[in-house]
Formats: sequence, C-alpha cells, structure tokens
Amino acid sequence: MAVIVQLVQGIQGLAGKLLDPSNFGSIITTTLLALVILLVVTQLQQVLFKDKNAPPEVHYWIPYLGSAIDFSLNPIEFYAKNRAKYGDVFTYTMVGRKFTVCLGVEGNNFVFNAKLADVSAEESYKPLTTPVFGKGVVYDCPNHMLMEQKRFVKWGMSNDAFRAYVPQIVEETEDYFKRWNNETGGRADVFTAMAELIINTASRTLMGPEIRAIMDESVAQLYHDLDDGFQPINMFFEWLPLPSYARRDSAHVKMRNIFMKVIEQRRANNETHHTDMLQSLMNQTYKDGTPFTDKDAGHLMIALLMAGQHTSSTSATWGLLYLAQNPELIERLLEEQKDVLGSVDAPLTFDALKNMTLLDNVVRETLRLRPPIIMILRKVVRPVVFPGSNYVIPKGNYVAASPLATQVDEQYFKDAMKFNPDRWDSLKKEEDIGDDGIDFGFGKVAGAGGARNPSLPFGAGRHRCIGEPFAYVQIKTILATFVRMYDIRLTEKGLPEPDFTKMFVQPKLPVEIDYKPRK
Ligand code: HEM
Ligand SMILES: *[C@@H]1O[C@H](CO)[C@@H](O)[C@H](O)[C@H]1NC(C)=O
Ligand SMILES: *[C@@H]1O[C@H](CO)[C@@H](O)[C@H](O)[C@H]1NC(C)=O
Ligand SMILES: *[C@@H]1O[C@H](CO)[C@@H](O)[C@H](O)[C@H]1NC(C)=O
Ligand SMILES: *[C@@H]1O[C@H](CO)[C@@H](O)[C@H](O)[C@H]1NC(C)=O
Repeated sequence: MAVIVQLVQGIQGLAGKLLDPSNFGSIITTTLLALVILLVVTQLQQVLFKDKNAPPEVHYWIPYLGSAIDFSLNPIEFYAKNRAKYGDVFTYTMVGRKFTVCLGVEGNNFVFNAKLADVSAEESYKPLTTPVFGKGVVYDCPNHMLMEQKRFVKWGMSNDAFRAYVPQIVEETEDYFKRWNNETGGRADVFTAMAELIINTASRTLMGPEIRAIMDESVAQLYHDLDDGFQPINMFFEWLPLPSYARRDSAHVKMRNIFMKVIEQRRANNETHHTDMLQSLMNQTYKDGTPFTDKDAGHLMIALLMAGQHTSSTSATWGLLYLAQNPELIERLLEEQKDVLGSVDAPLTFDALKNMTLLDNVVRETLRLRPPIIMILRKVVRPVVFPGSNYVIPKGNYVAASPLATQVDEQYFKDAMKFNPDRWDSLKKEEDIGDDGIDFGFGKVAGAGGARNPSLPFGAGRHRCIGEPFAYVQIKTILATFVRMYDIRLTEKGLPEPDFTKMFVQPKLPVEIDYKPRK
C-alpha cells in the first residue's frame, strides 16, 4: 500500500502538467481507449499464456499492480481465501512480479531450505538492501561470504557480552520511562517509546558507547533517512529519482564513516576493553585470507542496525500490548521475578533472565502472533519442482514463505488467535535443534525437521536470523524492567489491528496504553 500511495503521488504530479483544459477532450478519449486495451490485454494474457506445469495463478483485474492491493490490505485473509481455492502453492502477481507462495510446514521447509542453485535471496533483497547497507556485505556478496559475516556477528553475541548488556539495557529502560512518571499515571504512546528505547539500547550495547553518545544529535536523523529508504517502494522501484533516495544515499555514507571513525579511534587509543559488536567486527578475516575491512565492518553494522530495529521495537510494543490486555500476566511476571531473584528490587541479570520461563514464553507467544517479518522471498534462478507435486515454479518468479500462516493455523495452535504464553510449556520451541541440525558456517541451525516447526518468526536454514538471542535478551530485559515500574491496561480502543502495509508489520497507529506507576 505504501508503494501505491507513493506511486499515486508521483502520477498526480505528472497529471498536473497534462491537465491543460484545452487538451481535455482528446486526453480523456485517448486515456480511456488505452485503459480498455490494457484491461483486455491483461485478461488475455492470463488466459492465453497459461503455463500448464506452473502452479495455479490468482486472477487479477488491475494491470501491473495485480493483487497488490488485496494482498497488502490483509495478507492473512488473502492467503486463506486463495488457499481454499488453489491449495498450499499458488502464484499471484504484484507490481509486475510473480510471487509463488508456499504455505504450510512443507512450504516453509521448501523455501527456507531451498538449494542455492535453485533460488537466490540476494536477487530478491538486493535492490532494497544494498543502497542502505552498502557494498560487499549481506546480499551484495556471494552467499558463502554472508555465511562468514554471520559467523563474525555471532562471535559478538556471546553470553559474556549479554552479561554486560543486561544492566545497560535496564539502565536505558529506567532512564527512558522515568519521564512517564507522575503521581496519577496517564496515557502514553508505547510505539514511539519502544522505537526510541530500542535504538538507545541497541546503540549502547551492539553499536558501542561512542555511537550512543551521539544518538540524540546526528545518528537519530541519519537512521531516520536510512529507514525512509528501507520501504517496500525501494524494493519495487529502485530506479525512481525520489528525494528520499538521495537522502538515503547520503545518510549511508555518513553513517558508514561514523563507524569507521570510531574504529580508527579505538585502534589509535589501543582500546581493547569493549565488548560490543563493533569491536568484534574490527578484527575479522575471511577463511581464505581476504580481510574484512573497516568499510565492510561499517556496512555490516548498518545492516545490523536496520535488521534489529523495527523487528525488536514492534515486537516489544506488541508484547506490552498483550500484557496490557492480560494484566494477570503482569502479576505472574512479577511473581516469577520474586521466585528467581528473591525480590523485584534485585538487579536483573542475564543468568536470572534465562530462568524466567514465563517471560520467555511471553516473547515467544508475541512473535508467534505478530511476527514482524511476514514475507520471506527468494528469486527462482532455475525452474524448481515443488516437492510432492507436479508444479514447476518458473525461473524469474519469487518463492515466498509465510511463517505467519502456520503460526496462526488452528491445525497447529489451538485457539490460535488467543495470546496464551503457557501453551509453550508443552510445545516444541524453535531453538530446540534436532539431530538433523546443519551448520552453514555460523553455527548449527535446525535442519529440515526444524524448518517444519509451525512457528518460525526467525526463519530457518542458511538465512536464519542470528539476532534471535540478542532480540530475546533485549525484549525480555525491557519488559521485565517495565513491569517493575508500571502497571498497564489497554485503552477503550482495545488491542490495535496489525498494519500489514509496512515493511515490518506494526500495530495501526496511534498505539496508546493507560499506565499507573507502581511506586
Ligand atoms: C524480534 C526480532 C527479530 C526477528 C523477528 C527477526 C527475523 C528474521 C528473519 C525472519 C530472518 C530470515 C530472513 C530470510 O530468510 O529471508 C532474519 C535474518 C537475519 N536477521 Fe533477524 N530478526 C530479528 C532481530 C534481529 C536482530 C536484533 C539482528 C541483529 C542484531 C538481526 C539480524 C539478522 C541477520 C544478520 C539475518 C540474516 C540474513 C540472511 O542470512 O539472509 N535480526 N531475521
Ligand atoms: C500525569 O499525567 C497525566 C496524563 O499524561 C496528566 O493528565 C496529569 O496532569 C499528570 N499529573 C501530574 C501531577 O503531572
Ligand atoms: C598503542 O600501542 C602501540 C603499540 O603497542 C604504541 O606504539 C602506541 O603508543 C599506543 N598508543 C596509545 C595511545 O597508547
Ligand atoms: C586482531 O587479530 C590479530 C590476529 O588474529 C591479533 O594478533 C590481534 O591481537 C587482534 N587485535 C585485537 C584488537 O583484537
Ligand atoms: C537458574 O536456574 C538454575 C537451575 O535451576 C540454577 O542452578 C541457577 O542458580 C539459577 N540462576 C539464577 C541467577 O537464578
């Protein structure tokens, strides 16, 4: 939808020039005629050029856009409706591209564990990611280099690092939410609060104190410009000459240079005491001896910033909203803190958080119901057969997995739409790696058996998220600290609906909750 709105604005600008009243008559007739021809061609194309072996295609009326509007208004309904018609595997058209969605646990496994020779993540994400992250990292390099980059990053997510991070996140959280404090409590925007808090905590921990120190001045604006360039429109219209694209490119260079300068300073001052991600990326080498340069490090740091910001901040927001909806859980979380730590005043530690099972399950259940990433894409580079079927998915299509579809499927989760963290007491967790675990170069991830887990908010296979442990530490620490400070309730508007038109699914704004200080 965001794509469409921006596109329409562009067309309106153009239309302003064309709308000279003296040309009206002929312009209208020509336009109508062109439209009719386009509509007829679109329909004929769908009937005549049907590939017998390809998966069934969702019919559409609007040329080029195809099912884009239908899909982005509510992808869950769109998938459910067409699944009833066509089964688990079908193709739909959006913005001139064909997407073959593979639903169900077999669909998830197919996409997540597809062979490199068959599908490519780079080909699908590159137009979006390379201008923001920069060259030489993530999707702008061969897959084996990405696997090594993930190993470098994983190295910066050790338990020792997390032990250092927890008190820092607690401090940032207390500091941030102090501003809400007054005698009576009130109503506040948690969405904005979480976005600001997560960038503060991530910069304090992963990015480093130097970045945290300039967060309020320059970095926040740079982040904002990068984020504006990390939208669905950038994926589909990489060539548009929009001002936001220019701001994105300039912010990219400045941000990268900031990281490189910090690295330079740390080297010059022989600073080796840092425990953050930047430090661990400063001194890495690829297995074949190729150095991982400071520029590469700067680019990868931007990638981590972008990968971890909205994912964590929307998840933390939904987490708070679900707690506000189920206040008895807040009481139980405080009880759990007392059980583990002896008191709700004792300092939170990483080791204590690990023992807080209910808190863990609250995050897990939040991510089951409201995963921030709902469409996982790979571009087909060689025609590929969907296992157990006759369907050949053509080269050039995108295959899409939708873990959300299985995560809210009654077949796997009883009362699927109900927020029930206790269900995880008896269910298989995502990180429980079976005997078929695979190492793609950055540590073991669940193999095909694991990719059939119906709940996969962090994906599976070679592209699986490496930020999961950090995300859990960050969100758990924030929630645990927050419930110590405030009691919360939903407002009369209830739980917000998800907005699927955003790159990362977020609650429809405004997102407010009612809060009361505990002390
Ligand atoms: C709640 C938080 C998060 C969620 C739900 C999440 C989700 C995901 C998913 C679904 C993927 C797989 C994408 C694909 O297969 O195409 C992924 C990959 C990744 N994520 Fe996360 N993520 C989160 C937080 C983070 C954080 C905090 C970081 C870094 C600090 C991070 C870094 C990455 C990286 C580097 C990849 C690998 C991309 C690849 O190999 O292609 N994520 N994440
Ligand atoms: C507390 O916050 C509420 C809502 O934001 C506000 O209406 C009220 O005036 C505040 N009270 C004090 C003492 O500042
Ligand atoms: C850093 O270490 C090098 C070599 O050990 C030394 O020459 C240099 O003076 C040190 N720099 C600082 C600022 O301590
Ligand atoms: C960087 O790596 C080299 C070689 O592995 C090592 O000798 C050096 O001490 C490392 N420097 C830092 C700052 O970690
Ligand atoms: C966490 O639980 C384990 C096992 O019950 C226990 O040995 C450990 O002391 C606990 N740690 C904390 C910090 O509560």
